[in-house]
Amino acid sequence: MDYLRIKHSDNLYGSVKISGAKNSALPLIAATILSKNDVVLENLPNVVDVKVLIKLLTMLGASSKDINENSVSINTNNINNTQVVYDMVRKMRASILLLGPLLARFRKCQVSLPGGCAIGARPVDLHIKAMGNMGADIHITNGYINASAPKGLKGSNIIFDKITVTGTENVIMAAALAKGTTIITNPAKEPEIIQLCDVLRQAGVEISGQGSNEIVIVGSDGELLDFKNIEIIPDRIEAGTYLCAGAITNSSITINNVIPKHLEAITNKLKEIGFGIEVDSSSITILKARELSGFEITTSEYPGFPTDMQAQFMALATQCNGVSTIKERLFENRFMHVNELQRLGANISLLGNVANISGRSNLIGADVMATDLRASSALILAALIASGETRIHRIYHLDRGYEKIEQKLSTIGVKIERLKGDKI
Ligand code: EPZ
Repeated sequence: MDYLRIKHSDNLYGSVKISGAKNSALPLIAATILSKNDVVLENLPNVVDVKVLIKLLTMLGASSKDINENSVSINTNNINNTQVVYDMVRKMRASILLLGPLLARFRKCQVSLPGGCAIGARPVDLHIKAMGNMGADIHITNGYINASAPKGLKGSNIIFDKITVTGTENVIMAAALAKGTTIITNPAKEPEIIQLCDVLRQAGVEISGQGSNEIVIVGSDGELLDFKNIEIIPDRIEAGTYLCAGAITNSSITINNVIPKHLEAITNKLKEIGFGIEVDSSSITILKARELSGFEITTSEYPGFPTDMQAQFMALATQCNGVSTIKERLFENRFMHVNELQRLGANISLLGNVANISGRSNLIGADVMATDLRASSALILAALIASGETRIHRIYHLDRGYEKIEQKLSTIGVKIERLKGDKI
């Protein structure tokens, strides 16, 4: 199994180009099911999760044609199977995003329950309840969600008790083809949701309120949509991760091809810690701090501090003076990186969903294990300032969501290699 070997690299420089957002690409790939024509997606991140979801669509009968490494054309008119099997879903839980569009277009589907993952139980009860509200007959048997709506889905008032990103995306896609108007109350407001709504509006759907507490969608009553070419928005979490690489080494680097507004919670926190942040229309430069102050974070839905940046800031906290406190509100088990950071010498104590990190610690390189996508990147950040050499194992987690990470890190001065290793 591959592993990464990273040598102490505490003086970074230059700039790195940010890829398209995985968490925008995934719902948009699912949304191609709603299209009557070929859909071209550009600025796709070349990462495992995106490749798996496209492959899943082709297993259902869709066709996809690579235009280049980061662009693909998808046609879903020949889908002849609406059963999303466990073997695919267990590899990529975001396959749940096929539920809404398959049900809306084909009026029946079977989607395997995704099951939990390292960071939590990850239930999909809110997705299922919403589809039921829209008129689907939906029940779970043998680990599969069995859904049918022979007369098509109907517009409905959906009130989410809890904000759910993919739950909101499933309802938006289902509502786009439903008969009548759907009002989603308490939707997610992430930039990825906004892009999905913008793409559907450009495809002819009457949709408004995205980014507010109420999204209104007037369904096409089964008429397929006419998609325009899609350019995936930049990945705000990848961008934040590279800013943390500059922060943890107290180096000045620039990230290009970003939408600064999408990173405000992250850049505001970096400024609070002591870094300078320079922003222009599509790039951000982090400037050295005189000293790094401890901080407090509570993860929250957008525009709050993103849970997907929690692990990266925990690594950074090991280099900040005093005690930093991180509270994880969204997932019940998203501290898997703590044990691994402690192996490198971090001083972290846990009490329920709150981590207290005492800095500043001198970290020492060691063998560590990635446990989930964002935890993997936190270990890379810690390895930059750990003395000696750090080997990060089980990096298949990393390949799910970070494109060309070795190449990008090498260009800003990181001594990193991907090696073939023994099974861990
Ligand atoms: C999306 O996951 C992202 N994934 C996650 O990114 C991200 O961490 C998460 O949103 C929160 O921002 C994609 O967009 C593909 P949720 P999602 O439904 O939609 C509970 C990454 O690193 N909930 O917003 O699965 C749930 O347990 C990944 O790229 C229910 O209770 O997250 C959690 O506590 C990791 N019932 C909270 O809501 C449901 O039916 C938020 O989950 C659905 C969710």
